Amino acid sequence: MIDKYNRKIDYLRISVTDRCNLRCSYCMPSAGVQFRTMEEILTYEEIILVCRAAALSGIRKIKITGGEPLVRKGIAQLIGKIAKIPGITEVTMTTNGIYLKELLPELLKNHLSAVNISLDTLDPVLYKNITGVDALTKVFQSIQACVAAGLKTKVNAVLSESLFEEKNVISESSWEISAKKQAKERLLNNCLDLLELSRNSSVDVRFIEMMPIGLGRAYTMTSGDDVLRRIRKEYPGIRADYREHGNGPAVYYTIPGFKGSLGFISAMHGKFCDQCNRIRMTSTGQIKPCLCYSDSYDLRAVLRNPDLDETFKLIKMKEIIIKSALAKPREHCFEHPEEISEMKKMAMIGG
Ligand code: 5AD
Ligand code: SF4
Repeated sequence: MIDKYNRKIDYLRISVTDRCNLRCSYCMPSAGVQFRTMEEILTYEEIILVCRAAALSGIRKIKITGGEPLVRKGIAQLIGKIAKIPGITEVTMTTNGIYLKELLPELLKNHLSAVNISLDTLDPVLYKNITGVDALTKVFQSIQACVAAGLKTKVNAVLSESLFEEKNVISESSWEISAKKQAKERLLNNCLDLLELSRNSSVDVRFIEMMPIGLGRAYTMTSGDDVLRRIRKEYPGIRADYREHGNGPAVYYTIPGFKGSLGFISAMHGKFCDQCNRIRMTSTGQIKPCLCYSDSYDLRAVLRNPDLDETFKLIKMKEIIIKSALAKPREHCFEHPEEISEMKKMAMIGG
């Protein structure tokens, strides 16, 4: 599909559940999460029909996201079925990695093409602080298992000083300033630690600027450039890396002696909307043209309309998917928070 701004839209991200086994503070706090019921969420049969309609509309690549996709039973089989749809060339997944090692053989058998593992730190205490769960070892073992299996693997870390602030800092201004500096320093060191994952294995480590979506609104947004500057100081030989890395807007670098690359997804400080290639579907079957706005196009009503047969549903959904691509705005408005109309949490939309 070609949209109004001449962008080629061939990538669909599907959130298969809003549930998660972690509680990352910027995404899903332990208190006050209201999950959708299983009836509200699309069934696998419905998701497959959506993917067939998407393929007919020109979608070629599909990313399975959540919440945490691996908490939904039978996800590997779903991936296998989507991978077989004519026109679909690639099915990938974003996961927090906790169940990944145990499910990996099944996922590989079902033609998973690549995986993105969300991991913000290699410090076990901080990991527990951020996610609420003491599970760093599991994630680490999953990364190793993916590399050993030869699966294309990326690690995604969100950037925010807020995650590194000491609690209960005295709120006197000079104290506050030095506490902020320390938090920034800890964040930058944390990035250097994460980078080690790409030294001896071909894992790409990517730093994602926090976006003002859901609970992320309350977090400091560190610029990817600050991180790059620090990494450059440590590794002056760092170079731009123009090799093909996947479907996304990340800007890549390579460091001599490192097997994996280093990437930045800088939605805030390096707006890449002119290259946007995607639409999204929430777990309840709403197609979203853009992460920033609440506008959505309902596929579930079509899927559950008892008067339509399968062929008609496909035709109708294809129409809606094309309409949603044409409704893509030129760009997000994250720099004007008052204009952001999307109020849903990231786990609902699919990060
Ligand atoms: N901004 C950027 N990334 C976010 N994620 C969750 N919330 C935000 C946000 N506000 C990321 C997670 C994970 C993926 C599912 O989305 O860290 O990598
Ligand atoms: Fe779960 Fe990902 Fe949200 Fe963390 S960021 S709570 S892993 S969905």
